[in-house]
Amino acid sequence: MLYGALLVILLLPVVCLVTSLADLVQLDGVDTTTTSGRERPPRPTSPPRTGNYIKAAVRKKHVEITNNVTSSSNVTTRTTGVTRRWGRLPLTLYEGGIVYLMNGKLNLGSPSQTIEVVVDTASYELYVNPDCDRAANPAFCASAGRYDAMGSGTAENLTTWFGVSFGSGGYAGTYFCDSLTLGDDAWPVTNQQFGVATASAYVWAGMIGLGYGEGYNTPYPTMLDRLVEDEYISQRVFSVGLGGGDSGNSDIIFGGVDYHKFEGWMEPVEIWPSPADQMEQLGQVGYWVNLTSLGHTRPGQQAAEQLTPSGFTWMMLIDTGSTFSYMDSDLVAALAAQFDATLDEQQGIYYVSCSYLNDGDDNSGHVHFGFNQGGVVIDVKYADFVIDLGGRCALGVQPVDVGSATWVLGDTFVRGAYIVFDQYYDTVWMANYQPCGEEAVTDLGEDPGEQLWTEIYGGCE
Ligand SMILES: *[C@@H]1O[C@H](CO)[C@@H](O)[C@H](O)[C@H]1NC(C)=O
Ligand SMILES: *[C@@H]1O[C@H](CO)[C@@H](O)[C@H](O)[C@H]1NC(C)=O
Ligand SMILES: *[C@@H]1O[C@H](CO)[C@@H](O)[C@H](O)[C@H]1NC(C)=O
Ligand SMILES: *[C@@H]1O[C@H](CO)[C@@H](O)[C@H](O)[C@H]1NC(C)=O
Repeated sequence: MLYGALLVILLLPVVCLVTSLADLVQLDGVDTTTTSGRERPPRPTSPPRTGNYIKAAVRKKHVEITNNVTSSSNVTTRTTGVTRRWGRLPLTLYEGGIVYLMNGKLNLGSPSQTIEVVVDTASYELYVNPDCDRAANPAFCASAGRYDAMGSGTAENLTTWFGVSFGSGGYAGTYFCDSLTLGDDAWPVTNQQFGVATASAYVWAGMIGLGYGEGYNTPYPTMLDRLVEDEYISQRVFSVGLGGGDSGNSDIIFGGVDYHKFEGWMEPVEIWPSPADQMEQLGQVGYWVNLTSLGHTRPGQQAAEQLTPSGFTWMMLIDTGSTFSYMDSDLVAALAAQFDATLDEQQGIYYVSCSYLNDGDDNSGHVHFGFNQGGVVIDVKYADFVIDLGGRCALGVQPVDVGSATWVLGDTFVRGAYIVFDQYYDTVWMANYQPCGEEAVTDLGEDPGEQLWTEIYGGCE
């Protein structure tokens, strides 16, 4: 829903651990020419090695909006200087949405306390303890768990304020440091800085941001940074597979790839503008990539129909914290017409028939998102694209002016893809989500781009 990129006001640079200068130098020194103009080798025959990675199961959850808290937000009153917003507007209009939660795979404190947090690639910090009375879904908020600093022997109150705004709604509170454990095997990370909210609006769970951290968006090491500093993983790289459906099997693998979740080579899609340019132009860094085509195949149709002209290119933010994707209204209208969607004039939202959720057993209806001028096309099946709001169904792409100020590739895109977010090469590697057989994870080492270009070949066909 509307978790996502945003504006974080860091009132004071607080540092739990001393920043490693070496890391910053390393980031600057990356040679990003691994792939350009290079032929790929023949398909590798021996399976890649396995090594260090951290896997965390992710739960898909439909959350209804039961509390109308859009209009008034107390959150930003403590903070000033709000200058930029990538955040989406609250989606009270939509009655609900789908989010992905780290379900008991991220625990805080000593002894450890279980807290469910939304997985968000469009932000970069960890926040807990929303105000459930002011949450869009108070009941869910209450069930997601709260961090109790008094109940943790390792908690440290940093006594500095933070504030984060999502356009409307957000969190404000105090930074803390404490131990956490991450992943299915509960790997410990000590002295992790995060925000403990004392005020919030709309948000109904904590959030773990997986964007660029130290050296870019934050003056302190984020959880992802710490996984590298603590040498659990070699580079700031993680894989996201959210196509597991309601029955589970969705996960995030820090420092690793499951090559039984896709077929063939992954395609590198460059983050653009570069993180350095984004810092300069936007003041923060996100996973922005150029979309180069949008297409649609109706059930039973042979060929896809292109909705974008040749030469089309538009920058989009990849945001696992967003239920919907957002694009220009003309483009959405063209797609909506093909779905016989009805536009709710008052809300500006496109609704479609729920029969699209099961378009026959062959799942032949798809929406196609293209990158690198056709270098990779992600085919999202209707069941992953149409959002069931409980008897009423919405189109997976909505117009930017309704829910967001920017073009967003939300979960209605992410479910169709297997994605490696690679902060070492400033690249997002993509393939269609196409699982087969047992999990087969290999680690990504010092040079993830080289491995993904020459060694790691999806085993599903
Ligand atoms: C929520 O509140 C806003 C402003 O107070 C109002 O315009 C809107 O109709 C309300 N929505 C619902 C579903 O009650
Ligand atoms: C904002 O917070 C103050 C106290 O912190 C409270 O009295 C007031 O009602 C809140 N405003 C809204 C709109 O919730
Ligand atoms: C943390 O410190 C701040 C600032 O001193 C204080 O307002 C807040 O109540 C403290 N939080 C807890 C949970 O003790
Ligand atoms: C992204 O698109 C813009 C034009 O819209 C272009 O200038 C830029 O080079 C593209 N970036 C990449 C990495 O393709």
